[in-house]
Amino acid sequence: MMTDHRDFRTALGRFVTGVTVITTLDAQGAPVGLTANSFNSVSLDPPMVLWSLARSSRNLAVFSEASHYAVNVLASDQRHLSDRFARPVADRFAGVDWRAGRGGVPVLSGVTATFECRNTTRVDGGDHVVFLGAVEAFEGCDREPLIYHAGRYATPSYEIFSA
Ligand SMILES: Cc1cc2nc3c(=O)[nH]c(=O)nc-3n(C[C@H](O)[C@H](O)[C@H](O)COP(=O)(O)O)c2cc1C
Repeated sequence: MMTDHRDFRTALGRFVTGVTVITTLDAQGAPVGLTANSFNSVSLDPPMVLWSLARSSRNLAVFSEASHYAVNVLASDQRHLSDRFARPVADRFAGVDWRAGRGGVPVLSGVTATFECRNTTRVDGGDHVVFLGAVEAFEGCDREPLIYHAGRYATPSYEIFSA
C-alpha cells in the first residue's frame, strides 16, 4: 500500500496515549532511556506488555541485548522528562532521581506507574522492533498522568462517565 506518511501519522495521532520513558542499562552499566508512547498492555496471565523502538534508535542494540528494562509512565508534571528523553542531550539522566529496579534498571521517581520487565521477545515491526516484556514487578499510584494526543501534550480534564 502506498502511504502518505504525514496523513498516516496524523490519523495515528488521533489515538490518545500516555507517555512513558523506557529505561535500561548499557553493557557498561550506564543508564539509558528514551521517550515512547507505543507502550500497551498485552497479557494479564502471564503479565506482559509491549512497546516499539525505531530501528534508527541509537539504543537499538542496547535494548536488544538488555536482560531487563523499565517502563516509566510519566505524570502530568513530567513533560520536561518526555522532552529530555526524546532529544539527543549528552546525559538524559543528569539531575533525574531514580532507583535501581529488577536487573538494576532505572525506575524514575514521581511517575504514575512503573513496569519492570524481563526482555523476553522481539518481533519485526517494519521500521520498528516490537519489544514484548514479561512484567516482574509493577507499581501504580493515582498521580495524574501526562497525555499525548495529535502530537501535543495534555493533562486530564474530562468528564468521568459512571457505568
Ligand atoms: C511523545 C513521544 C513519543 C515517542 N514514542 C516513541 C516510540 O514509541 N518509539 C520510538 O522509537 N521513538 C519514540 N519517540 C521518539 C524518541 O523518543 C526519540 O527519537 C529519541 O531521540 C530516541 O532516542 P535514541 O535514538 O537515543 O534511542 C517518541 C517521542 C515523543 C516525544
